[in-house]
Amino acid sequence: MTFSRRTLLGAAVASPVLSVEASSSLFRESLDYALAKLRQVAPNVTSFPEETKFEKWTYVNSGGWVGGFWPGMHWLAFLDSGDEQFRRWAVESALRLAPRRTDTSTHDLGFLFYPSWVTAYRLTSDASWRDGAVEAASSLIQRYNDKGRFIRAWGALGTPNNAGRAIMDTMMNLDLLTFASEQTGESRFLDVAVAHALTTRAKFIRPDGSTPHVFDFNPDTGEDIGPNTNQGYSPTSCWSRGQAWGIYGFTTMYRRTRRREFLESARKLADFALDALTPDHIPVWDYRSPLAPNDVKDSSAGAIMACGLLDLAAASGRFSYRAAALRILDALCRTCLTTRSERHEAILARGTRNRRTETGIEVSLPYGDYYLMEALLRVLKPRELARAIGL
Ligand code: GLY
Repeated sequence: MTFSRRTLLGAAVASPVLSVEASSSLFRESLDYALAKLRQVAPNVTSFPEETKFEKWTYVNSGGWVGGFWPGMHWLAFLDSGDEQFRRWAVESALRLAPRRTDTSTHDLGFLFYPSWVTAYRLTSDASWRDGAVEAASSLIQRYNDKGRFIRAWGALGTPNNAGRAIMDTMMNLDLLTFASEQTGESRFLDVAVAHALTTRAKFIRPDGSTPHVFDFNPDTGEDIGPNTNQGYSPTSCWSRGQAWGIYGFTTMYRRTRRREFLESARKLADFALDALTPDHIPVWDYRSPLAPNDVKDSSAGAIMACGLLDLAAASGRFSYRAAALRILDALCRTCLTTRSERHEAILARGTRNRRTETGIEVSLPYGDYYLMEALLRVLKPRELARAIGL
């Protein structure tokens, strides 16, 4: 069989397989860059990176909601390289999160303990990591409101502050609960995870597949108050990182439960976000900000979405999601890395922490770095990554 030049060129543009091959050396170089950056920066880090200012990390000593990502990056670096120094850094910083196991004042326990302690258990089989993660899951389910069937996002228990507030990000905290059920054989963790995911599906997802950041309930009766926002542009907009949390979180819940409605939800969110992407493949911070698509970008939303889409492709059997993920990952590696700045302490630039309050625009974020590394490993070393995060 012979191919005309036109046929070959057409195939090169259309075939995701060719683009994978073209990208794989870029992906390997990018992961090498990430590991080199960690080696350079980690010796001076004794707290939890929160965001960069003028290319240097600023820190949150308690871990805030981000404390799982720094140890998580080192576990991923250890997984890739086998370098014991990364394991030591991972252990050292994960241990600093220990007091948060009993923190019932936030929903963020999955963000905190999954990339750090659950991964630690999966890679080392040391039961103390597993027990700590289960303890964190026990703290998290105390935030479940059984009238509204949701996990309360913010505010200390027993206070009225944000008592009826559910947010899209919580979808990412549910896998800590599925892990706890799997490890203990107790269904109470999984039951809360499934109930919260069903509520998110019912209340957040609009007919076009977009989502608000927040949904408020009457905390006493569980009745709907309605959509709202904290980090998005408005209650009717679609914050791109929230949408990415949803794609990732619903796909995970489908993998854990095999409930078709979660796969359907993940696909709906993914289809909306992919349709809203511009040709540069980096999400704008909110798909419906008045300036969108010509507004500031959020590379972290791209990295999270790439992970979610790779998982969704495997779960749904639809290669188009994988092709889209690879295009995003390729764009992140080509246009968002910090490679040209020697003094930069992070890996991925062009992140947006909170555009609405104008805090952290065009910065690096530990979750941008973490999910970039996770996405690269999903492509380069899928079996090893599956062992670390339980795919
Ligand atoms: N979970 C908070 C955020 O994504 O900024």
